[in-house]
Amino acid sequence: DWTDGASPTFILVIGGLGYIGSHTVLELLREGYNVCIVDNLGNSFDSVLINIKTLIARHCREKGSSVPLIHFHRLDYRSRSMRFLLDSYSDVVRIKDASGKQRLTYRSRIAGVIHFAAYKSVAESITEPLRYYQNNVCGLVTLLQRLNHYGIHNFIFSSSATVYGAMASAGLPLREDNLLHQPEEIVDEEVAARQPSGPMGLTCPYARSKYFAEAILADTAAANPAWRIVALRYFNPVGCDPSGLLGENPRAEATNLYPVIAQVLTGTRPRLDVFGSDWSTRDGTAVRDFVHVLDVARGHISALAWNAAQKPAKSGIGRFRAFNLGSGSGTTVLEAVQSLEAAAGRSIPLNLTGRRPGDVGFCVASSERAQKELGWFPRESVGQCAKDLWNYLQRERGMA
Ligand code: NAD
Ligand code: WQD
Repeated sequence: DWTDGASPTFILVIGGLGYIGSHTVLELLREGYNVCIVDNLGNSFDSVLINIKTLIARHCREKGSSVPLIHFHRLDYRSRSMRFLLDSYSDVVRIKDASGKQRLTYRSRIAGVIHFAAYKSVAESITEPLRYYQNNVCGLVTLLQRLNHYGIHNFIFSSSATVYGAMASAGLPLREDNLLHQPEEIVDEEVAARQPSGPMGLTCPYARSKYFAEAILADTAAANPAWRIVALRYFNPVGCDPSGLLGENPRAEATNLYPVIAQVLTGTRPRLDVFGSDWSTRDGTAVRDFVHVLDVARGHISALAWNAAQKPAKSGIGRFRAFNLGSGSGTTVLEAVQSLEAAAGRSIPLNLTGRRPGDVGFCVASSERAQKELGWFPRESVGQCAKDLWNYLQRERGMA
């Protein structure tokens, strides 16, 4: 139970004002969790916090419930101040150790951590690899050491379908055991024979940073039974909260499909360049697994609960488990465009052009493991993603 006890407990959400983070924070608050957000606003705005507070106040008024606590710390999660922050959420308690001796230890009021903070542009990662590895990998190592010091071991990591690299292009739904970090993870012989595991065909430093991060997490869990670590491999999160108050509003230049289409719809870009119309797919454009960001957000809550319920796998070994968060069905780029045209009631001018370097033609999740083990089921359709995005563009960007 996260919220009972003398002092309130919190879920620490690092990168919690970004696109996926803000939706997850809202969902946590709706579920009654107290949330502590750390974000340096490098790719987000503090207006997101105001909108989260507005939405949760509205939700609690309608439900007649009290508003959970929301703390925000504008901070680089790699900075030394993070130590002081973790300290301020810790109590020193007296415990008896195995030999019956009394000793002092930390008991943290942070019941779980969700770590979103990272740089995520594929193109930028190629020109600035060290900046990417510093934030996405080195920062993670320091964070894990600090969390361990304060006895915080329930950890959820934002991974990506990009860790499957070239395996995606085989045209089959990707399963978690296509990529294994530890020999003791159960291998499906048939899958293993079809696809070798390991960092095969990872196309850019961003992809490798997520692969390295996962490997570090798997090794960390293998060495200390206290850890409960989940890596959530997101496929293509799109859409936004139906209120229209939260959405994808990065400071960085838009390069992903939906943010680019949003710019076409709002008139800041004349047309959509469609990268590749010669893939062997039903209409020649690439197939992706678009999953509603609120479904993705709910996946984090399932993962926190799953972690909390885990017993050690075997003596001396903690838990590391990867889960795909995808809808399990493929949509082509042209089908995505059509769903947005239908939602907006306007046409999206297209320019069919060559393939983008490093792209794969097909990338779809098997969501079986998340369904079976986390009890997580994607609820929203691609059509709903389009409606919610258009609603956001109208309300937040003043579109008529
Ligand atoms: P985002 O850029 O919108 O959010 C990341 C947030 O982290 C931002 O608010 C940013 O200001 C903050 N941040 C970054 N570095 C920080 C630091 N050093 N200290 C404190 N705050 C920092 O990105 P997103 O789309 O919400 O993605 C969240 C996570 O999910 C990332 O790790 C990303 O790699 C991963 N991911 C995203 C997608 C996607 O399509 N959006 C897909 C797969 C995986
Ligand atoms: C989808 C499809 C493009 C823009 C990337 C990262 C992945 C994850 C999600 C973070 C592709 C096509 C796009 C455009 C287009 N991010 N497209 N015109 O490439 O599946 O995945 O974002 O982890 O790691 O690699 O997503 O939205 O960029 O592209 O035709 O202007 O849309 O070529 O086929 P992708 P995307």
